[in-house]
Amino acid sequence: MKILILPDREAAVAACVDLIAQTLTATPDAVLGLATGGTMEPVYAGLLARARAGEVTLNRMTSFNLDEYVGLPPGHPQSYHTYMRERLFGPLGLDPARTHLPRGDASDPIAEAVRYDTAIVAAGGIDLQLLGIGGNGHIGFNEPSSSLASPTRVKTLTRATRAANARFFGPDETVPQFAITMGIATILRSRHAVLLATGGPKAAAVAAMAEGPLSARCPASALQMHPKATIVLDAEAAADL
Ligand code: GLP
Repeated sequence: MKILILPDREAAVAACVDLIAQTLTATPDAVLGLATGGTMEPVYAGLLARARAGEVTLNRMTSFNLDEYVGLPPGHPQSYHTYMRERLFGPLGLDPARTHLPRGDASDPIAEAVRYDTAIVAAGGIDLQLLGIGGNGHIGFNEPSSSLASPTRVKTLTRATRAANARFFGPDETVPQFAITMGIATILRSRHAVLLATGGPKAAAVAAMAEGPLSARCPASALQMHPKATIVLDAEAAADL
């Protein structure tokens, strides 16, 4: 595990964008694993700016997002389909056939998870997997107690995660109870994992991930077993190391 500590959020985001851009420059048809959440918003803004400046091209890459809420169709404003379409795929006019997310509205979400895992393998596996971290140490939606050997599957979201993500939903909306998420085994198979964490509220989870025991209580600690994991932090997220 290589840990990069940058002075502030802006510098950490820029370092993360650099890693993605380097991968795409070396391998324009790379397979990227993408993440959502507030932490990633400036990352996609940075990538979009670089693509518009002609410094990097995303037209040839294939992507697989980590997760999607069960029950939300792609057009739902809070779906991760919408998140990606608004921030990256739409503005760049990327081919929807190359940008994959699990279908939250699949009639059989369990079968959809199996299909998604198979599609990742069929695409040749993930070259660079982008990750955020939940305050409880989750990666993707692999909540504490997730098997470290888990494939892509349906997970029940914890109360803490639903409360944390309620900020993206309206006052009259409820946060879905389930999500389809890449599993920890799926994430560990990526050839390079890049986790970005910024801000003080992530400091305890970051310390548990990097310095705590390898444990299903902190799913991100599984990255200790990844052959090539780069952890990009700002000073606040690194405060408990
Ligand atoms: C979400 C996502 C994760 C994300 C994490 C942190 O629930 N499923 O992929 O990394 O929680 O989100 P944020 O960056 O908004 O703190």
